[in-house]
Amino acid sequence: MARVVAVANLKGGIGKTTTVVNVGAGLALKGARVLLVDTDAQGNLAMALGVHPRRTLYDVLVDGAPVERCIIEARPGLDLLPADATLLGAQPIIARRPDWSRVLAQAIQPVVGSYDFVLIDSAGSLTPLNVNALVCAHDVIAPTTVEHFAVKSLELLIAQLGRIKGSAGHVRMIIPTMYDPRVRQSGELLAMLRARYGDRVTPPVRVNVRLSEAPALGKTIYEYDPQSRGAIDYAMLVEHISRAFGFTARPSQPSPDPMPPKPIAAPSRPASTVAPETCPHCGRALQHTSLAGYRVSYCVQCRFKKQELVRDRG
Ligand SMILES: Nc1ncnc2c1ncn2[C@@H]1O[C@H](COP(=O)(O)OP(=O)(O)OP(=O)(O)O)[C@@H](O)[C@H]1O
Ligand SMILES: [Mg+2]
Repeated sequence: MARVVAVANLKGGIGKTTTVVNVGAGLALKGARVLLVDTDAQGNLAMALGVHPRRTLYDVLVDGAPVERCIIEARPGLDLLPADATLLGAQPIIARRPDWSRVLAQAIQPVVGSYDFVLIDSAGSLTPLNVNALVCAHDVIAPTTVEHFAVKSLELLIAQLGRIKGSAGHVRMIIPTMYDPRVRQSGELLAMLRARYGDRVTPPVRVNVRLSEAPALGKTIYEYDPQSRGAIDYAMLVEHISRAFGFTARPSQPSPDPMPPKPIAAPSRPASTVAPETCPHCGRALQHTSLAGYRVSYCVQCRFKKQELVRDRG
């Protein structure tokens, strides 16, 4: 069943759209069927993916256009229900409807079953459409920069979510974004977030100029610079989210080996086992993930990461 996930924080400019694009693209690279829904009139998702849609969420919500006709394929496995500035005009129209907080849920309901993940990007304030996004989401993921005001906005989101969704209103994951390990206050606030919200806090996404350059070229970070810190951090986040939501990678190509398996003879002596690769700093077994042609090995304890090209990306 599709997980509908709202990516929200009541503060602007903290990495919501960057997270939706690169988590969505990363999940699609792992073989998931992903729909991105833009509920922000800035329409940043279409720009960041370099697509030029003709129809948008406005057509669905206000003109009653069939939702399937307003969705475009942005990448293989990655679809987009886009927005643009017309959505500003939709907000007062929606707010007058008696069922105003469920119009988005009703609008996307016919297509939700076709996806593994529906990721909703939202604006940085509590607009009627943002309330819709929170109402229709199974889970809320909150990116936050590791700064005092952003952390305060996170508290506000959690309080609002409780009001809107009652006991079901909790934030499933908190993603520290634009994290700069050289800044002492960032380290202190990250430690405070972890102390307060425990394992809901994901590994941080570090500040990386490549992440801020990619949207202007309409590229995901895996397309723009798969060796960058931003690509590695989002690749690890995709692994984290996949594990948390129980999604296992689907091969995008059928297995090339049609040979039947050979019977395995009983070994005359114990087979030698290959020791798992371990972290050079703490000795813990390394975790692995593959994205955009790279295999990334990382330690969940330390900050150790390494990557190698595993196939020609063509
Ligand atoms: N880890 C990062 N390192 C450096 N720059 C980043 C990072 N993440 C996002 N950015 C940049 O920061 C800016 C704000 O990010 P983004 O648009 O994702 O935030 P947002 O929360 O969606 O903002 P808004 O509320 O305006 O929609 C963008 O220019 C983006 O490219
Ligand atoms: Mg945004």
